[in-house]
Amino acid sequence: MPVAMLPYACVLVLLGARTAEAAGAAGGGRLRWEPRCQHPLPDRVPGTAILPPRLDGPWISTGCEVRPGPEFLTRSYTFYPSRLFRAYQFYYRDPFCREPAHSLLIKGKVRLRRASWVTRGATEADYHLHKVGIVFHSHQALLDVTGRLNKTRAGQDCARRLPSARAWLPGALYELLSARAGGGCMAALGLTMHELSLVRMQRYLQPQPEAASRPVEELYLGDIHTDWAERQQYRPTGYQSPLQSALHHVRPCPACGLVARADVHHPPALPARLALPLRLGGRWVSARCEVRPAVLFLTRAFAFHARSRSWEGRYHHFSDPACRQPTFTVFAAGRYSRGAPSARVRGATELVFEVTRAHVTPMDRGTAAMLNLSEPSSCGGPGAWTVGTERDVTATNGCLPLGIRLPHVEYELFKVEHDALGQSLLFIGQRPTDGSSPDTPEKRPTSYQAPLVLCRGDARDPSGPPRHEPGRTAPRGRGPDPRAAPLPLLALVLGAAFLWWP
Ligand SMILES: *[C@@H]1O[C@H](CO)[C@@H](O)[C@H](O)[C@H]1NC(C)=O
Ligand SMILES: *[C@@H]1O[C@H](CO)[C@@H](O)[C@H](O)[C@H]1NC(C)=O
Repeated sequence: MPVAMLPYACVLVLLGARTAEAAGAAGGGRLRWEPRCQHPLPDRVPGTAILPPRLDGPWISTGCEVRPGPEFLTRSYTFYPSRLFRAYQFYYRDPFCREPAHSLLIKGKVRLRRASWVTRGATEADYHLHKVGIVFHSHQALLDVTGRLNKTRAGQDCARRLPSARAWLPGALYELLSARAGGGCMAALGLTMHELSLVRMQRYLQPQPEAASRPVEELYLGDIHTDWAERQQYRPTGYQSPLQSALHHVRPCPACGLVARADVHHPPALPARLALPLRLGGRWVSARCEVRPAVLFLTRAFAFHARSRSWEGRYHHFSDPACRQPTFTVFAAGRYSRGAPSARVRGATELVFEVTRAHVTPMDRGTAAMLNLSEPSSCGGPGAWTVGTERDVTATNGCLPLGIRLPHVEYELFKVEHDALGQSLLFIGQRPTDGSSPDTPEKRPTSYQAPLVLCRGDARDPSGPPRHEPGRTAPRGRGPDPRAAPLPLLALVLGAAFLWWP
């Protein structure tokens, strides 16, 4: 999750007239969304997909990324005109990517195939790995990896290829995969490069104060399954947070130069960051059109009321990757628990969310017709559905055709960060890739979705102390909850009744 990811919608807002009415979000009343907060991106955000993608060149993480597990890493991938590529993955011990543990050098070849039939707007690719090597940056890092390998049979075979603690040479590169070594170590370590099999490129203009806008190019690669055991088989249908072109990235970006200059022997240590308390009060919106695996396009908008610990969310669903053709909107509301620091994911806060009310608005004829045909007791009771008209589905315990069940509880993981411009970003837990819901503590996420941005004018939680309270890292128990979206239409098509989010 790029720290410096500066969502263009919000850049526009940031740079727009500062008429901020100070935070109207407190209180338990109904949301009065500012128009720009309601539809953060669709119409006016001119991001353009580049089709077919042009991979050539260097691509980098813009901040510390978190993968399910959790794993903390940064990436620097270079694609050559010959279709060869060289990828560095730098892994860390800490959630700020300051203490490198080990790094991977991955070489291979990638070939773009065709437009994806599953994920609209994506291109499918084939790849082949020639060589994978690992460098340990400390003794401890070596022990961590071999300790993990020692737990399985295949892992023990692989561990024999790594040095013993005594024989380890700092700086040495050990082969995990090569023509000679075979590929057994990759699986044993849970490594795959399936992310290369789904690709999307996007370009947009980042407005600059007092200067011409600059282009930013993003490379979206396939998502990583949230269940470790599924990683080897899973073929991506969604994306990770994007890499950016090392030549055309957002500015400022303190991490970009460091990542771009790094190599497998010199991993980047990212600049120190302030640990921010989780202050959820205010309204948070998607910075862009989001894609979920399995495959939905949506934008989210949330309001958290710290005093009453209640929340409301709107999930706008679309049928296209630019989020221009709406299909339906879900309004959901409920309460959330006091937060507690996560033991598993340092720097994150655990919360429990409850969804007790929901409304549905069909936004196209297809969805309205589908709801018209559904059993009235499964979604909203008797009465017709028409495009653009909201109906309350609380009394029917949700809306099964859309995968909404009430009441519903979710175990969440949240964190707040600032990007390089000081904009607040809210990260909410990634939904399980299998489409299920994190409805037990064991299923609580260990990684995040794309961040939400705080609406202008909400920079202060009216019910809380100022944001930069030094020395406070423990959350005050506000939690938010946004997350993602349900599995709606697809679930329907497959005849499965499904789960969702908040
Ligand atoms: C892994 O297992 C081998 C052989 O059983 C042992 O020598 C080694 O110390 C173990 N390594 C770790 C880190 O547990
Ligand atoms: C849903 O049913 C109502 C009443 O029967 C009808 O007026 C409306 O056109 C239907 N909508 C769709 C999209 O079929």
